[in-house]
Amino acid sequence: MTTGTTTTATPRTPVVGTASTRIEGLAKVTGAARYAGEVPFEDLAYGWLVTSTVARGRIRSIDTEPALAMPGVLTVLDHRNAPRLAPDVGMMGPDATLQILQDDKVPHVGWVVALVVATTLEQARAAAGALVVTYDEEPHDVVFSGHHPGLYTPVPGGLTGPDVEKGDIEAELAGSAVVVDEEFTTPEEYHSAMEPHAAVARWDAGRLDVVDSNQGSYAIAQDLAKLFSLDATSVRVRSEHVGGAFGSKGLMRPHLVLAAMAATTLDRPVRVTLTRRQMFALVGFRPATAHRIRLGADADGRLRALDHEASTFTSQLSEYVEQSTRSSRVMYATDALRARTKVVRLDTPTPTFMRAPGLAPGSFAVESAMDELAVKLGMDPIALRVRNEPAVAPASGLPFSSRELIACLEEGARRFGWAGRDPRPGMRRDGRWLVGTGMAAATHSAGIAPSSASITAEADGTFTVRIGATDVGTGARTALKHIAVDALDAPPEAVRVEIADSDFGPAFLAGGSMGTGSWGWAVIEAASKLRERLAFTDEIPGEGITVRGETSELIKAREPKECHGYGGQFAEVAVDVASGEVRVRRLLGIYAVGRVVNPLTARSQLIGGMIMGLSMALHEEGVRDAVSGGLVNGDLAGYHVASNADVPAIEADWVEDVDTYNPSGIKGLGEIGIVGVAAAIANAAYHATGVRQRALPIRLDRTLGAEAGAAAS
Ligand code: MOS
Repeated sequence: MTTGTTTTATPRTPVVGTASTRIEGLAKVTGAARYAGEVPFEDLAYGWLVTSTVARGRIRSIDTEPALAMPGVLTVLDHRNAPRLAPDVGMMGPDATLQILQDDKVPHVGWVVALVVATTLEQARAAAGALVVTYDEEPHDVVFSGHHPGLYTPVPGGLTGPDVEKGDIEAELAGSAVVVDEEFTTPEEYHSAMEPHAAVARWDAGRLDVVDSNQGSYAIAQDLAKLFSLDATSVRVRSEHVGGAFGSKGLMRPHLVLAAMAATTLDRPVRVTLTRRQMFALVGFRPATAHRIRLGADADGRLRALDHEASTFTSQLSEYVEQSTRSSRVMYATDALRARTKVVRLDTPTPTFMRAPGLAPGSFAVESAMDELAVKLGMDPIALRVRNEPAVAPASGLPFSSRELIACLEEGARRFGWAGRDPRPGMRRDGRWLVGTGMAAATHSAGIAPSSASITAEADGTFTVRIGATDVGTGARTALKHIAVDALDAPPEAVRVEIADSDFGPAFLAGGSMGTGSWGWAVIEAASKLRERLAFTDEIPGEGITVRGETSELIKAREPKECHGYGGQFAEVAVDVASGEVRVRRLLGIYAVGRVVNPLTARSQLIGGMIMGLSMALHEEGVRDAVSGGLVNGDLAGYHVASNADVPAIEADWVEDVDTYNPSGIKGLGEIGIVGVAAAIANAAYHATGVRQRALPIRLDRTLGAEAGAAAS
């Protein structure tokens, strides 16, 4: 073809910014879209995990004979015969959580001790049930508190930022007219993605070929190659459709290691799927957190001190540290700022990122404390936040790329009907319900990570975009297509997007709210190079013309700035005066999140985050049993996530936020929806009842306070 059509002078109307259903929507609702647990393979065998029943100790014996004698059983892998793995592999540094079946040590309840592989799933499951494992138990400790004697300050690195100390906290607190000094806690929380983790591995023409449920196949392929001491080019990982993740599929998980081990041992395709209960021990979770917040302010509300001391726990295997002081470092101007994080190692599974890691629990603590400060000052909580809007980022001193927090709060107040709110608690009654309103501010970092994309100008005039992005259900595939359509100035029907294949080269994972922005920039870069190329090309050869866009140098070349999204969360709740039940009646979130690529799926992401925030506020609590070391409620019967009847009228919208720090203008919005929601609901519960909620979830026994509860009983 000739390329004149792609370089016409009149640009098309942009599709970025217009609402569109998902490209793969039809395939998904008709079942044509295949997930890792259902992609068909010839000669497929099935693995079933056997997991430890003790929290700490050593495996004394595993009697595999009876299981091996059962119908269809092909092998039983345990620490004595499983393939040896390379040590010190991990995306965030050496992660012993990946060292599956390598020794007889048991680090927590639910650790993998064997894999039974059989010709059918049912046979594998039956044989796994017949496997007898005995243990030499050792004493364990799984009980977290913010006062645990084992708490230590982690060495900064990986995700762990250094502690911050600016100004003289004690002097500013001493000089403050009003001080808030309170402790807050949040429990273990579980991602509970709809699709259980699954992987199929097989050897195909000398390559380990994998279909896996994950958030980023490129990085996982790299780690898988290292773990099995293979050349990186000998491993291919694909994840075309993923049914939710929320952080639990960001890193390589045991099911994939096991599938690769079994496929290697048997030289046959093997699928390993986790059960819902196994997911509660093997794919990470948000660890419990404890916070001491000290705020000091002048009588006019000006903050003089913000001291956030956060603590959390990690496993014996890996040092994941929940960074709960993230929002305290960017939210408010203050004369003195201190943000410190401590962690303790317990005999539990390894925690991990979960939607808005650090920010979700941290914002509960700080945004609740800000509400307490507003009450003490006799000041409106929105006015208090506006009063302390910083000119530069409080911890780093860097300029913000853009910051529209006040616009979010003002627009939210207008839409919610905040004006004229009577701040006195416990004053509004609606039948048997006490009614209150509350708000909180939200933020999430808008980071960018190096990614690459290729675009092929095909001989038939169409374009093929290839990028190792993952669509975990967010609509990322559709967003990338629209970004490519605009960047190529091509008709939408001429552009196809292929994603989620490690062979497409380096791309960041669908995580940290960084996916669409990071990938989008790479696509824009590739499109611009391609258009330049085509401007000097008369004829496209049969194989097409392919160019790559790569952003790592472009990202490095930027001057340092703090780039974040912002939001205002508003809640109305009703509390049953007899039972203490809390029902959320209304939620409103107004956000500033840069350019919104697809309003339909963006709203869905924001609302989804808010529902998860509601769930965090009222329901979610992994209850760990000190005696067994396991979860009391490690399944969806006992671990409550919000269901339809819990979810009220929810609105999410956004204000204008033009920010070209990333040329795509995208800030990412997968996580900010959850941030601040629990605080807004807790603040509303206080406004309804006069009882402050400093521990999540806001259980029935907590809502009316100890005295009210005693009086009612
Ligand atoms: Mo998410 S916790 O950014 O994978």
